[in-house]
Amino acid sequence: MGTAIADGLLESKFCKPKQITITKRNLSTLDKLKEKGVNISSDNAEAVRNSELIILAVKPYQVSDVIKSFKSEINNKHILVSVVTGVLINDIEETIEKELPVFRAMPNTAIAIRESITCLSFKNSNPEQLAFVKNLFSTLGKVTVIDEKLMEAATVLGACGTAYAMRYIRANIQGGIEIGFDAATASLIAAQTVKGAAELLLQKGTHPEQEIDKVTTPKGCTIAGLNEMEHRGFSSSLIKGIAVSYQKIAKD
Ligand SMILES: NC(=O)c1ccc[n+]([C@@H]2O[C@H](COP(=O)([O-])OP(=O)(O)OC[C@H]3O[C@@H](n4cnc5c(N)ncnc54)[C@H](OP(=O)(O)O)[C@@H]3O)[C@@H](O)[C@H]2O)c1
Repeated sequence: MGTAIADGLLESKFCKPKQITITKRNLSTLDKLKEKGVNISSDNAEAVRNSELIILAVKPYQVSDVIKSFKSEINNKHILVSVVTGVLINDIEETIEKELPVFRAMPNTAIAIRESITCLSFKNSNPEQLAFVKNLFSTLGKVTVIDEKLMEAATVLGACGTAYAMRYIRANIQGGIEIGFDAATASLIAAQTVKGAAELLLQKGTHPEQEIDKVTTPKGCTIAGLNEMEHRGFSSSLIKGIAVSYQKIAKD
């Protein structure tokens, strides 16, 4: 996730390579970013000392140790953005033991191609700091600010949602092959159709049912297929799957 964010920031020219420092313990996986001119280091404290914005992109169980490795360097120039799933802003503040602007960001893997939806929540931020962080993630896709209590729901709909969408596309590919296409052509048609459908909603601001009405002729093949899908529990199975993911994340 951290390297995907760095790649996206470089591609969008949000900042220059030299303005980014990426830290991790095993630096051998960062060769490509190093070649692009990004600073790489294993010294979290030094990286924080020389930066203003810190993006924390480690596994949840690593958060406490990583914060402790740089917290002595935190001062009033810093903004912290955590993309870590399930770690509350209050938990981060308690570990840092200093008051600073803390953001939680929930992007998805499409951040690598700058097509993420990133849900943001924050504490102690002034409007300029909020604008800066929103601007940063806007270069990596779309951004929406949510209440922190919706972060788990955002994880399910936005981040797990990528997997749900992939299964929907995969099922289309399987159906497409059954009705005559080779796998590559079925994949292209299925993926581009889903992309186009999503763009219709995003660009026109319409409701899905309005777009469905345009495709469904009376007694036609679209409505016959759609109704069959619904008889077999299509919408219901998606809603139930989302609810089960949410129950699981809320319980853990
Ligand atoms: N994948 C998603 O769709 C998604 C979406 C939203 C949020 N997230 C969240 O993003 C976070 C990162 O996910 P990921 O999939 O990118 O995990 P990941 O591949 O395991 O990346 C974690 C990185 O942290 C580094 N690291 C661990 N300990 C460190 C230390 N002491 N100092 C510096 N670096 C350290 C690791 O490198 P070394 O081992 O070399 O140190 C590794 O590169 C997770 O909390 C995840 O829940 C993921």
